[in-house]
This record gives sequence, C-alpha cells and structure tokens, in this order.
Amino acid sequence: MTTRRQFLIGAAASVATLSSGSHAFSQGNGRRPLVISTWSHGLASNQKAWDILEQGGRALDAVEQGVQVAEADPEVSSVGYGGRPDREGHVTLDSCIMDEKGNAGSVAFLQNFKHPIAVARKVMEETPHVMIVGQGARQFALSQGFREEDLLTEESRKEWQHWLKTAEYSPWKPANDPNHDTISMLAVDQAGDLSGSCTTSGLAYKMHGRVGDSPIIGAALFVDNDVGAACATGVGEEVMKTVGSFLIVELMRQGMSAKEACREGVLRIVKKNPDWKNTQVGYLALGRNGDVGAYAIHPGFQYAVHDGQQNLLLDADNYLEE
Ligand code: GLY
Repeated sequence: MTTRRQFLIGAAASVATLSSGSHAFSQGNGRRPLVISTWSHGLASNQKAWDILEQGGRALDAVEQGVQVAEADPEVSSVGYGGRPDREGHVTLDSCIMDEKGNAGSVAFLQNFKHPIAVARKVMEETPHVMIVGQGARQFALSQGFREEDLLTEESRKEWQHWLKTAEYSPWKPANDPNHDTISMLAVDQAGDLSGSCTTSGLAYKMHGRVGDSPIIGAALFVDNDVGAACATGVGEEVMKTVGSFLIVELMRQGMSAKEACREGVLRIVKKNPDWKNTQVGYLALGRNGDVGAYAIHPGFQYAVHDGQQNLLLDADNYLEE
C-alpha cells in the first residue's frame, strides 16, 4: 500500500494519516464544494479556487482563476510565466477549459501571454469555435485586450542555454521532478456543477510547434455534469493516443469509481506502449458525487484536494508498485 504524504495549507487544517483504502475523498461522500488539481503547485491554486467556491462562486470561475496562480508563478517551470521553452527557446503554451454545460474552449501554441487559460475561456464564450492556435490565437488574444509579455525568465533562459550544451531530449525523467508538469484542475461548486481547466508550457525542450494533450478536449480534460470530470498530466502523446480523460469519464458513467477509472486509463497506455517504463502519465478524476480518484504509471504523481477543511497533497497509487 502506498504511503500518503500530506501537506497542509491554512491554519484551520488538521493533520491525519490516510491510507489508500480509507481515503475520505474516495468514498464519494457528496461533500461540496470541492476542488482538486495536479502536483504540489495545485495547493496554492486550490486555495484561490476555494476562495471563489466558498463564496458560492461558479466552478468555472474557480478553475479559471485557480490555475492562473500557477501560470503567474515563475517558480512553476512547466506552466505559463517561467515555463521551460521549446528547444529553440520559445515558451509555447497549451490550455483548455470546460464548463458544466459541455462548453469548451482551447488555445494551443500560444506565445507571450501569461494566462492562456483566460484566452481559452474567451474562445469558449466569445467565438463559435472550440480551439484557436498559433498566430490566430495571438490575434484573438490581442483583440480581447490581453497584453503580450516575455515569459522566459532569467532562470529558464539559463537552464535552456545549459540544456543546449547536450540537447538531449528526455520528456520524462524517472526521478519525477515534482514541479515538472501541467496543472489540471477539477471543481464542483455549491450548486453541484462541475468544471475543469488545464494549462501548461508543455514538455521542456520539445520540438518547435509541438502541441501536447493539454489543449485537447477529451485528452487532457473532459467534463460531463451528469457523471464527473477527469484530467491528465504527464507525457501528452500517450494521453492523446488513448483519449484518456474522455475514457475515464465514460468508465465512471458505466459504474467505475474515480480511482478505478483512472487506473483503467493508465492500463490502456501500459498495454499499448512497450516503452511505458520510460513514460509517466497521471490521471485525476472527480465524480459528481464527490468521489475523488487518481492513478499514475509510476510513483511520484501527487495531487492536491481542497474541501474547505483541508488542502492536502496526496500521493497517487501507481501501476509500477501494484
Ligand atoms: N501534459 C503536457 C504535455 O504533454 O505537454
């Protein structure tokens, strides 16, 4: 059984040791509102989302504003400002959002805008389209009043220049840098409505023009208000090939728990990919009944859960240690 490490934000929070079988959130206790997100950078983002949910705000606003905390943080080297660039030194951003009505918006290969998630929401709400990419996304963002800025920090520029000395591409290192990937967030609000968001600068030192799973509705994110929501982190190519988040929501519709569905999503990748030992993908899901589940290929994937009493960072169970 995996040991769960917990970290807390907020003075009112209390510490408890949870085992995977007795995890309070995995029982579908119907608690709401609730927000969950990927990795340790999810803790601060959850807190922002919670501030909105607590006041009766819409899950859509919570997931948009929540992930903006990670997008703006230069210490988060896989999202927005300070995100690691592609191999040519360009920070290119992928992001998507989905609401309780099944509306969706997405941007890909967007450069020089700190908050791609906000642009994705504008695509959803202000255009007849779901996805806008590259130069068209730039024009659209400018037309909506977003301001261009350089997202490469001194630190990320230095790291990229250091990487250029060997230029060895390694999308995932088994050491599992805890700060290495996408923030995906799912929330249920007081009204019981679900929404989700996903935003990333993508895999560090990817080919110029590479787009991952993060802006792809059904791959990195899917929300069905009648069933639940799912999201992904890790090597996006594997998530795209198995349409992971849509698969997980459909499995939940058929009766699987959030964790069982995430595990099945991971198994699809493991079965198809002979190189799965060198690939990390983590899934996170939220049933409309409050059931929270997560699963990854390898150990190291963490997710943050905020239910108003606690903002916990938990270790996901994984295939390698089954
Ligand atoms: N999951 C992020 C990416 O593959 O770009």
